[in-house]
Amino acid sequence: MAFVTTKEMLKEAQKGRYGIGAFNANNMEIIQAIVETAEEEKAPVILQASQGAIKYAGLDSIVAMVKVMADKVNIPVALHLDHGTDYYQNIKCLRAGFTSLMYDGSKLLFDENVGMTKKVVEMAHACDIPVEAELGQIGKMGDSDEPGVALEKVKESMAVPEEAAKFVELTEIDFLAAAVGTIHGCRTPFAKLDIPRIEKIRELTGVPLVLHGASGVNDNEVRKGIAAGICKINIDTRIRMIFTKKMKEMLEENPNQIDPRKILGPAKDASKEIIRDRMRVFGCSGKA
Ligand code: G3H
Ligand code: ZN
Repeated sequence: MAFVTTKEMLKEAQKGRYGIGAFNANNMEIIQAIVETAEEEKAPVILQASQGAIKYAGLDSIVAMVKVMADKVNIPVALHLDHGTDYYQNIKCLRAGFTSLMYDGSKLLFDENVGMTKKVVEMAHACDIPVEAELGQIGKMGDSDEPGVALEKVKESMAVPEEAAKFVELTEIDFLAAAVGTIHGCRTPFAKLDIPRIEKIRELTGVPLVLHGASGVNDNEVRKGIAAGICKINIDTRIRMIFTKKMKEMLEENPNQIDPRKILGPAKDASKEIIRDRMRVFGCSGKA
């Protein structure tokens, strides 16, 4: 099935009260793992590329890999720009064939964020491409950060529901990534979602909500988040952890191995299991 836009997918998810996994596409094996698992699970899926991944793999290479793999399967596949802090990166992704964009102006003042987001929305909507934007600040765990301290910090930068309503109205974005308690890069699921805040934002904005930093959220909280209005669930760290753990194990067990395929193949297979597990928890398995 050819690429589809994220808009259709998330509207369905919003109606059906389930979440769609948005998995970060960092290399060929991870892209294969995501698409193959989605096909096996009959799940609609979003592959997303960050600016870092684009720098690493090349914009055209990412689009080509995802397109070729999406064409071979019978499920809806979307390709999304993740945390596009750069306006020009959004233009390049639109031109390259991404089926949704994210303008991340969360580090800007409210009015500046509105202004820049609006510019991206005008351009993207002219091409029928939806846009996600961020409000509040979803921080990132540093290697030496204490979970307790990080959680305290998170409380100071959550999205305010009334501001979210204004933001959505002024920018006309399609999906909102609101800071609601998560932190990027958590290696254990210790984050706490602010469920009443999610419900209020959902009620005031009406748009599908996006949960960033979902590696740090346990299954029970994720399900509560979905019931409250989360439709797109971003996962990167958990796949990275499992992929590299398997690579290390393979190298330790076979120190003389020089065939990268024998190291990366099992890492891909291990990634498929966590992706499958996430899809089942999000409730999108069987929805394609
Ligand atoms: O934008 C990407 C995600 O929010 C991934 O977060 O690495 O904590 O899973 P994560
Ligand atoms: Zn994120």
